[in-house]
Amino acid sequence: MTTVFGLPHKDHGPTPHRMGGHEQVVFCSDERSGLYAIIAIHDTALGPSLGGTRFYPYATEQEALADVLNLSRAMAYKNAMAGLDHGGGKAVIIGDPATDKTEALLRAYGRFVQSLGGRYITACDVGTYSEDMDVVARECAYVTGRTVAHGGAGDSSILTAYGVFQGMRAAARQVYGVPTLRGRRVGVEGVGKVGAKLVGHLLEDGAEVVVCDVDERAIATLRERHPEVDVVSGTRELITSDIDVYAPCALGGSLNDESVTQLRAKIVCGGANNQLAHPGVDKRLAERGILYAPDYVVNSGGVIQVADEIEGFDMERARARAARIFDTTLKIFAIAGEEGVPPAVAADRLAERRMSEVGRLRGIWLQR
Ligand SMILES: NC(=O)c1ccc[n+]([C@@H]2O[C@H](COP(=O)([O-])OP(=O)(O)OC[C@H]3O[C@@H](n4cnc5c(N)ncnc54)[C@H](O)[C@@H]3O)[C@@H](O)[C@H]2O)c1
Repeated sequence: MTTVFGLPHKDHGPTPHRMGGHEQVVFCSDERSGLYAIIAIHDTALGPSLGGTRFYPYATEQEALADVLNLSRAMAYKNAMAGLDHGGGKAVIIGDPATDKTEALLRAYGRFVQSLGGRYITACDVGTYSEDMDVVARECAYVTGRTVAHGGAGDSSILTAYGVFQGMRAAARQVYGVPTLRGRRVGVEGVGKVGAKLVGHLLEDGAEVVVCDVDERAIATLRERHPEVDVVSGTRELITSDIDVYAPCALGGSLNDESVTQLRAKIVCGGANNQLAHPGVDKRLAERGILYAPDYVVNSGGVIQVADEIEGFDMERARARAARIFDTTLKIFAIAGEEGVPPAVAADRLAERRMSEVGRLRGIWLQR
């Protein structure tokens, strides 16, 4: 066995999963500016791949590669589920955004994205902002998530938080029979861009909110705006407290064997990507009678927002599409019930069905 793209494969003969099922993986280097990036296109069955650029100081190239492959695959499922005409793609730039991000580096990156001829459309992710996309766009036509000053949608966490709230309302309807969080106690882990806006929706809906964050400034900013919110010292205190809903809105991997065993909530629904630490955690949640609203289903409001920008941004149109996350989440719970599988499996099946049924139509030849 050798390793290609960090994935084990046999030495003899081609294997269909040589690149983890990805269509194209591109390494981009510009030594003078210090750019070292990897762009991964999982698939383009539904249209050009769409996903953000993560700028992160990965310890090794293998770590960066594993991350970009996982993230681009997740984007394929998220975009399919959100009803978008986009396949899944993602890029990583290896480096510390605080010290390595320069105009030359971003523009070099833009030229590589341009070289793909529109097969990959980039946007913001951890470590990149709308202002950076404006710089990338000076070299490249395939950029979204731009600043309002450049006709963009701006901060995508607005519709991400709104969509998570819609997913949570659907989960409440499934568990309590009513699509509201009124009178429920919701624990929000991480009150950054998404978490803080989610807290606003929850309070408006009549929920009680308790939060935790590793950054005291994030807590202080939230308390200034919403002094009625309770604060606990950390994730463990949050999940073992008397909450009805747990909303992970920090980093991925917060649902693991230990946290699922300790969790007192009846619902998990939050904005973080890749919440399940490993396969099987979703089954454990189901065994404990905890309803899990799949992460990429409920947090797709952000990509809905930036995808809308590609056709000329209209907030009301994008918000209306994000509101449909309520129905989609309910549909997934229904399929999970009918097929006797956890909601995460039901979501994957639904996304794969759309990729296959709609993607197949490209086989009908059209004169262009
Ligand atoms: N911004 C978007 O539009 C968007 C879209 C889809 C998914 N997401 C995902 O949602 C999550 C939050 O994104 P964001 O844009 O709000 O990021 P952010 O950086 O603004 O906020 C994250 C917050 O979590 C806190 N945090 C980090 N580790 C923590 C821990 N162990 N316990 C408690 N708090 C912790 C941070 O201090 C920060 O305040 C991420 O997983 C992101 O990938 C974001």
